[in-house]
Formats: sequence, structure tokens, C-alpha cells
Amino acid sequence: SVKGCIFDLDGVIVDTAKYHYLAWKRLAEELGFEFTIKDNERLKGVSRMKSLEILLEVGGLKFDDETKIKLAEKKNNWYVEYISKIDKSEILTGVEKFLISLRENGIKTALGSASKNAMIILNNLGIEKYFDAIIDGNKVKKAKPDPEVFLLAAKELNIDPKECVVFEDAEAGIEAAKNAGMYAIGVGSSDKLHDADKVILGFDAVNIDIINF
Ligand code: BG6
Ligand code: MG
Repeated sequence: SVKGCIFDLDGVIVDTAKYHYLAWKRLAEELGFEFTIKDNERLKGVSRMKSLEILLEVGGLKFDDETKIKLAEKKNNWYVEYISKIDKSEILTGVEKFLISLRENGIKTALGSASKNAMIILNNLGIEKYFDAIIDGNKVKKAKPDPEVFLLAAKELNIDPKECVVFEDAEAGIEAAKNAGMYAIGVGSSDKLHDADKVILGFDAVNIDIINF
């Protein structure tokens, strides 16, 4: 039976993709090319440095490693500036209620995010208290689709990966969950999340029975 639920952050709990996009777009403009919202789709669930690689590929530009680190830093400073202003009102509909009812029913909860900014976001949203374990981009070496982030979460929860359910909005994240031997619930439209075991549009009016498989 299911003993724990692991949540991705960006795109599952809060729509930070729009802020990532604003910051990447600003960097692209500074470098002299356009970065569209459609291009931005490719960055979902992808690590910061890998995101930069994709952005530079779109712009047809190449830089040495040192410059790339500086560019990623620049983007991150803008991103942090944007997310420093977010609050509770940006929690996606139904998420808080869902977390509360899981815990009331004895299900452990964890965060499994690629973001190194996860703590700032959780604090601003005031939802850190709902998680028994928090694994973010500072704690892992290998990016999704590697299962490391989710396996570490299961380990901290002291639960067998087979008894964990993962909520993810990105394909790389669904793959990571499957690679961890977990049940993967996609959050978003089902045409993009083929490998998910189940897909939900969001947590609005979702009952905790959906975690049973
Ligand atoms: C993921 C996002 O959760 O975190 C990606 O979906 C982002 O878009 C990645 O690149 C890393 O985030 P950060 O905050 O460490 O740059
Ligand atoms: Mg995500």
C-alpha cells in the first residue's frame, strides 16, 4: 500500500515556470536573440546548466565554461528577484488541502525538486511545514531523469520506493519516478506525459483516493 507521496515543486505546487521564463528571456534578449514561450517548454524539469545549454542552442551561441557559469548566475539572480515576491496566493489550487489530507491519513510527504531555490519558494508560500522530507537541487548530484532525487526522498521518509507515489509535471520527472520504481502521477495535460501511470489536470477537487494503485 502507498505510504508516501513525493511532490515536484515547479509546475506541481506553484507555477514558477513563468518566472524562469522571464529570467531566461531577459538573458536571451541581452545576448541578442528571441526566446519564445514555446522554447521555454523544453526547459521544464531540466537543471539550470542544462537549461542554459538549450537556450544557447536556440540562440546559436557558444561560450566557454567560465562564461556559462556567469550567465547562469545572472539568470538566477533575476529569477530569485522575481520569486522573492511570491506569496501564499500562488499555491496552485487544491494543493494545500491535498497535502493536509494526506498527512491526516498517515501518508508521509516529501518534496523532490531539481531547484536550488526550493527553500526560498517553500518559505514564501508558507508550506514548508507540510513536508516530512525536503530534497532539492542542493542535495542531489544527478538531474532527473536520474532517480536520485526521489530515491533520496524515500530514504529520508524511511519508505520503500515501491510504496511511493510521485507527482510530476515534466517528462524527465515522470521518467525519474519510473526509474526509481515508483508510481508516477502526471500533473498537466496527458498528451505530454505519456509515461505517467495516471494523469490529473491539477489538485482542484482531487480526492486522496487517487494515490491508490
Ligand atoms: C526545475 C524547473 O524544477 O528546477 C526547471 O522545472 C529549473 O525549469 C530547475 O531549471 C532548476 O532550478 P533552479 O531554481 O535551481 O535554477
Ligand atoms: Mg516541474
